[in-house]
Amino acid sequence: MGQPCHVSQLGKGIVDLFDPQPGETVLDLGCGMGDLAHEMAMRGAKVIGMDLSPWMIEAARAKYPDISFLMGDGEQFVLDEPVDAIFSNAALHWMKRAEKVVACVWNALKPGGRFVAEFGGQGNVAAVIGAIGRVLEWDYGIDASVRNPWYFSSIGQYSTLLEKQGFRVTFAARFDRPTPMKDGENGLRLWLDGFADAFFEGFSPAEREVAVRKTEAEARDELYRDGVWHVDYRRLRVAAVKPLPKDG
Ligand code: BEZ
Repeated sequence: MGQPCHVSQLGKGIVDLFDPQPGETVLDLGCGMGDLAHEMAMRGAKVIGMDLSPWMIEAARAKYPDISFLMGDGEQFVLDEPVDAIFSNAALHWMKRAEKVVACVWNALKPGGRFVAEFGGQGNVAAVIGAIGRVLEWDYGIDASVRNPWYFSSIGQYSTLLEKQGFRVTFAARFDRPTPMKDGENGLRLWLDGFADAFFEGFSPAEREVAVRKTEAEARDELYRDGVWHVDYRRLRVAAVKPLPKDG
C-alpha cells in the first residue's frame, strides 16, 4: 500500500485507501451485510467477512454466496490462518474493549500485514448524544453516559493502543462528515431506532415515543436544516503495519 499522507486521501473511499490487491487474503472486520467485502472481492482479493450479528452474516451469505462470512466477535476472534490485511469500516466504535480488538487484529495478521480502519472518532454524533443525554437526565434521572454503547476514540488514544501492541502507525486522521438523513422529519427518529436502542432500554413503547420526541426537540437547532436531519458524523481513519521481525 502506498502510504496515504495528504488531505485528498480523506475524499477517497476507505476501500480505495485500503487498496486490496489481487490474490491477497483480507479480513473485513464488522462486515455487516457484506457490500464492501464484495467490492474488495471484485478487485481480486480473497475476502473473509466477519460480524457479530448472526442476521447480518445470514444476509451477507445470501447476497454474496461466493464470499466466506463468519460470525465472530472483534474483541475475541482467532483466525485459522493469518491474513495479509485487515479492513474495517464503521464497526470499531461498537467494540469498546479496543485493546482486545487491536490484540486480535495483531494475532490475525501476517508479519508485514496491514490494518486499515475507519470508524467514529472522538466527538462523533456529539449533538445526538448531547440531546439524548439531556432528555434522559432531566426527565428520567438517567445518566446516559452509562448506557452509551460506543467508543469514539481520539487519534492519540487509538494510535497509542496500536503502537503499544507493536504496530507501526502509518496514517491517522479525524474529519467531519455531517450526513443528511433520508425521510425528512423522520430522519433522526429512524437513526435512533436503528442504532440507539441501548439508551432507551427498559422504556415502554409509549415512554420511548415521548423520549424520542423530546430528543428531536433538543437536537433540532443543531441538526435540522431545510427539512433534513444531518447527523454529525466525525470519522477516524487509521492505517498501521505489523512490522516484519527484521524491522523490529
Ligand atoms: C457511525 O459513526 O458510523 C455510527 C455511530 C453510532 C451509531 C451508528 C453509526
